[in-house]
Amino acid sequence: MRLENKVALVTGSSQGIGRGIALRLAQEGADIILHGRDEDALAQETEQQIRAEGGRVCFIEADLSQVASCRRLVSEGVARMGRIDILINNAGAQKNAGFLDTSEQDYDLILNVNLRAAFFVAQTYVQHLVDRGEKKGCIINNSSVHEELPFPNFTSYCASKGGLKLMMRNLAIELAPLGIRVNNVAPGAIETPINAALMNQPEVLARLLENIPASRLGQPRDVAGAVAFLASADADYITGTTLYVDGGLLWNYSEQ
Ligand SMILES: NC(=O)c1ccc[n+]([C@@H]2O[C@H](COP(=O)([O-])OP(=O)(O)OC[C@H]3O[C@@H](n4cnc5c(N)ncnc54)[C@H](O)[C@@H]3O)[C@@H](O)[C@H]2O)c1
Repeated sequence: MRLENKVALVTGSSQGIGRGIALRLAQEGADIILHGRDEDALAQETEQQIRAEGGRVCFIEADLSQVASCRRLVSEGVARMGRIDILINNAGAQKNAGFLDTSEQDYDLILNVNLRAAFFVAQTYVQHLVDRGEKKGCIINNSSVHEELPFPNFTSYCASKGGLKLMMRNLAIELAPLGIRVNNVAPGAIETPINAALMNQPEVLARLLENIPASRLGQPRDVAGAVAFLASADADYITGTTLYVDGGLLWNYSEQ
C-alpha cells in the first residue's frame, strides 16, 4: 500500500475514469474525497466499496463550472477529512461541434470545467498546503492525448487539454520549491460514459480500434494504475511530465 495516511481529492469521481482512480487510490491506502455534481446511486456504491475496504471516504457535491464551487470543494474537503495531500483534477466535459457551430455557452462550459476549474481547485489546494506548513504535495491532471493531438470538431476540448499541458508544466516549475509535484495523465480512448455516442456507432468504433496498436479500448483501471504510480513515492522525482495511457494511439492516429 503506497498511499497510507494520505487523503486524496478526486474530482468527477462518481463515474468513469474518476471512479476508477478513487477506487484504486483507496486500494493503495488513501482516504478519499469523492466529488460529483449529484450524489447519485453510482457515487453511493463507490462510497460503500471504499468503506468496505476499510478506507475513510466522504462525498461532496459541486458544479465546477463555477469558481466559487471549486474553492468550496477544497475547503469542505479539508473540513470533513482534516486535510488533503493529493489532488486529482479529473472532472471534464466534451462536446462534438464544428468550429462554426460552437456556441459561446458550450465553449465556456468546456473551458471552465476542463481548465479553469483545474486551475482554481489547484490554487485552493496549494494555499491549503501552504497554510498548514506542508512541504509535500502532488497534483495530477487528467488531460488527454488531445493535449497534443488535433481532433477536428472538438476544438474547445483540445484547447482546454492543450491549456492543461502548459498549466501543468508552469506549475511544476513554480511549485517545485514548495515540494509539490505536478503531472498529467493523458488517456487515449477509454470506455466510459463520455464515449457513449462512440460505443453506439460500431463502424466508427471499428475504425478507431484500427488506430490503436494495442487493439482495444482502455479501461478506467488502466488510467488509475498510472495515477497511483504518479501519486506515490515511486514518482518522487517526476514532475512536469505527461504520462500517456493510450495503447499507442497517439503515434498511430489518423482521421479518416
Ligand atoms: N474516456 C475517454 O476516452 C477519455 C480520454 C481522454 C481523457 N479523458 C478525460 O478523463 C476525464 C474523465 O472523463 P470520463 O471519460 O470518465 O467521462 P465521464 O463523463 O464518465 O466523467 C466526467 C466526470 O466529470 C464530471 N463533470 C463534468 N462536468 C462537471 C461540472 N460542471 N461540475 C462538476 N463535475 C463535472 C462528471 O460529473 C463526471 O464525474 C475527463 O477530464 C476527460 O476529458 C477521457
